Amino acid sequence: MRVAVISSEAVPYSKTGGLGDVAGALPKALKQIGVDSFLVTPCYWQTKGEYLWHTAVDDLWVTWRGQAVQAKAFYSEANGSPTFLIDYPPLFHRDSIYGYTEDYERFAFFNHAALALIQRLGTAPDIVHLNDWHCGFAAVELASRRRHEPYWQGTRTVFSIHNMAYQGGFGMGQLPALGFTSTFARNAFNFNGYASAMKAGLEVSDTLSTVSKRYAHEIQTAEFGHDLDWLTRQRSSRLIGITNGVDYDEWNPETDKELPVHFSKSDLSGKADCKRALLEQFSLPIELDRPIFASVTRLTAQKGVELIRQGAGDILAAGGFFIALGSGEKDSEKFLQALRDYAPSRVGVYVGYNEALAHLIEAGADMFLMPSKFEPCGLNQMYSLRYGTVPIVRAVGGLDDTVQNWDAVTQTGNGFKFAPFSSDKLLEKIYEARFAYEDKKTWAKIQQNGMAVDNSWENAAKNYVELYKWTLGNS
Ligand code: ADP
Ligand code: GLC
Repeated sequence: MRVAVISSEAVPYSKTGGLGDVAGALPKALKQIGVDSFLVTPCYWQTKGEYLWHTAVDDLWVTWRGQAVQAKAFYSEANGSPTFLIDYPPLFHRDSIYGYTEDYERFAFFNHAALALIQRLGTAPDIVHLNDWHCGFAAVELASRRRHEPYWQGTRTVFSIHNMAYQGGFGMGQLPALGFTSTFARNAFNFNGYASAMKAGLEVSDTLSTVSKRYAHEIQTAEFGHDLDWLTRQRSSRLIGITNGVDYDEWNPETDKELPVHFSKSDLSGKADCKRALLEQFSLPIELDRPIFASVTRLTAQKGVELIRQGAGDILAAGGFFIALGSGEKDSEKFLQALRDYAPSRVGVYVGYNEALAHLIEAGADMFLMPSKFEPCGLNQMYSLRYGTVPIVRAVGGLDDTVQNWDAVTQTGNGFKFAPFSSDKLLEKIYEARFAYEDKKTWAKIQQNGMAVDNSWENAAKNYVELYKWTLGNS
């Protein structure tokens, strides 16, 4: 089976969040189980030159705004699978990866270029695996083209939803300029008079998946559907949840190159050294018995920042350190900086994006907070489990599927989990965790339970192969 994975970001070429982790790791995992897979992603200004091994195509002609424009594609295997990076500086060499009013235009171009490249490579893929709204354009183009172009006739599309909150909306009047003139395309994009790339992808792709079982159900409800729940319900017989994996080549305390000392499930002693290094990094007192509660996150409403803000005060009252790495809403960034200024010997804050620090926090912290309002999957709670850092999460989406609440009677569970979106409930769990931490034997058991969990990509990749097969047999 030949599979092309298309994504707007992929590690190590680019990353703003979990989509990058997933799109970098899935093609590698597919390849490892024998699938002929390759990745297509943009080459950004942020993509390091060392990852661009050589030029694969230097005259990639893309029909754009009625004209043929010339793009390029680099080749790399830096993520462990064949990768083609579409290079078109006017649209992709920018200060940030997303956040421009014309993002819809940038990714429409990327989609056209990705399909042009695939065709140029020769053998048509059986499956084109599309990710999030940035790939909704390719879903429509492919569905249209396979009606009359023999090359695409055997190709089927799988569309993965990583986050329903971002839908790639723009004016219907822009569609012709992006190359979409048919009634079929207009209908696909049309969402109450606006164009939505997410809606188009959901409507015309052969099958749909999302990144946890629970989120697959949640997006069929008004609470989590972001106004598209009617469509996910309509297509529910072709929608499945596959929980993301963890790339243990990147996130493994036994080998992690960002850590001063390594540790494992059978020998946790190095974790204390990582805790010391983390406290030093933030110029906090080296008090190893005081628990560190940590957070690494985009500072947006999705992540429950309002609960994190309230919880931070509770953590200080409960005698813990609080360490946060994040960027996003200015108001929350300011709050964190103010909290650090208020309690400089107990709070460490880094506003910004810092990959190395994210690893050190996973290793050196004792508890990890994720009180999300919604969470399609979430990766940090799974990283935390592997690093013996106990997650405190809200029971939504992938957090509910991957964290089991600690039960002192049966000695089962690997974290602390609460359901209502309320600071009181988070507070209860903060105190429960604080209490459990005091008993070294109990704490070690919770850590061991978490470290024993296998969230490797291999399982997820096998589930994707099943989905691909099902898609080929049922479309
Ligand atoms: P989301 O994709 O919604 O942001 P995930 O939990 O799936 O949430 O993935 C977030 C990823 O981004 C993780 O790999 C996490 O370590 C990383 N991350 C988030 N914020 C930062 C930051 N400020 N610095 C470094 N890494 C970050
Ligand atoms: C999105 C979601 C996150 C998920 C990630 C990768 O960014 O917010 O929950 O883990 O995609 O699928």
